[in-house]
Amino acid sequence: MGYPNSRLFSLSCLLFTTLTLLHHPTVSFAQTLFVFGDGYYDAGNKQFLSANRVAADFPPYGITVGEATGRWSDGHIVPDYLAGFMGIPKIPPILHSSEDFSHGASFAVADATVLASPLETMTLSQQVVKFTQSKNKWTDEALSEAIYLTYIGSEDYLKYAKNNPNPSDDKKKDFVDQVITSIEAAIKVVHEAGGRKFAFQNLAPLGCLPAVKQEKGNNEKDCVKLPSEMAALHNKNLLKLMEKLAGDLESFLYSLYDFHSSIQNRALEPETYTFLTGTAACCGTGYLNGTGCAANNVCAKPGDYVFFDGKHLTQEANFQVAHLMWNADPVVVGPNNLRELLVFPLDAAATRLKQNKIQIIYDQVRKAGSFMM
Ligand SMILES: *[C@@H]1O[C@H](CO)[C@@H](O)[C@H](O)[C@H]1NC(C)=O
Repeated sequence: MGYPNSRLFSLSCLLFTTLTLLHHPTVSFAQTLFVFGDGYYDAGNKQFLSANRVAADFPPYGITVGEATGRWSDGHIVPDYLAGFMGIPKIPPILHSSEDFSHGASFAVADATVLASPLETMTLSQQVVKFTQSKNKWTDEALSEAIYLTYIGSEDYLKYAKNNPNPSDDKKKDFVDQVITSIEAAIKVVHEAGGRKFAFQNLAPLGCLPAVKQEKGNNEKDCVKLPSEMAALHNKNLLKLMEKLAGDLESFLYSLYDFHSSIQNRALEPETYTFLTGTAACCGTGYLNGTGCAANNVCAKPGDYVFFDGKHLTQEANFQVAHLMWNADPVVVGPNNLRELLVFPLDAAATRLKQNKIQIIYDQVRKAGSFMM
């Protein structure tokens, strides 16, 4: 990582921001972040919904920052870094009622799905209901300038693949359509409540998660086909949904980050991205450390790994992801990166409709269907 000419880079950021400010006198910098999703973004909600011991509340989770907080990583997660880039404190879990929610709330909780109603978690629609019930904590202006960040769907497809080993193409498509329709409904509820700026991290190639490969007994390099296929199909339809909503909903602005390609690249060429391995996890048991992460089986240097446990990323991987979402080139994020989403005023939405950059991601997401490693 590291930008070789980081001074030049910050200078051009400053210049860009200044020009944007001059150009759009109404610009306002969002100071609010709302987070929806599963264990990737959970900042500690799980413990309030679970009758059992929640692994992420104990070491080795949090080991790199010296404290287990319910985050499913050795340290910070993506929303923590993004809050930092926005200049606001970390966004607290909504279920921890004594926290300060003045800069937003995280509704994300481990094991969350879009469909069905799994136990001890909240589906996306339940998270959104919780948001609408709490929304009087924020002003209308804060709600409309806020960024609504979401990562969800992994659990739906992993479960589906487990329960339907050989679905027909039509069945796969039907299931993805159901998930996408439900995400659309959730976005519309948030939009109705005043939300305008949406950021999505699309799905990883799910068959490449150490937990999934290990369960199937696959070689280190061989991803499991069905979950990856479902994720690729989901990602295509998610992109279509974003484009549709940008046309249908008033002042709908979005940022779509192609997490899929980021994981693919890091699994194939970990060294290029500062890792030693992108296939096995740092913590756990089995030949890929795919399950059972505990204090007695954690690696010495989590930063050498993309995956901390069989499903979740290390702090280092989260850091890279957050950087990509915030400020990357249009090959992985578009039509706005998060910084742009933050600085562009809502009345500029109309002028941003010519989303030519998105074509690059479109091609990439479309091609990704065939990626199996
Ligand atoms: C699995 O975790 C152990 C720590 O328990 C670590 O030493 C080992 O290198 C990991 N396995 C792989 C394949 O990275």
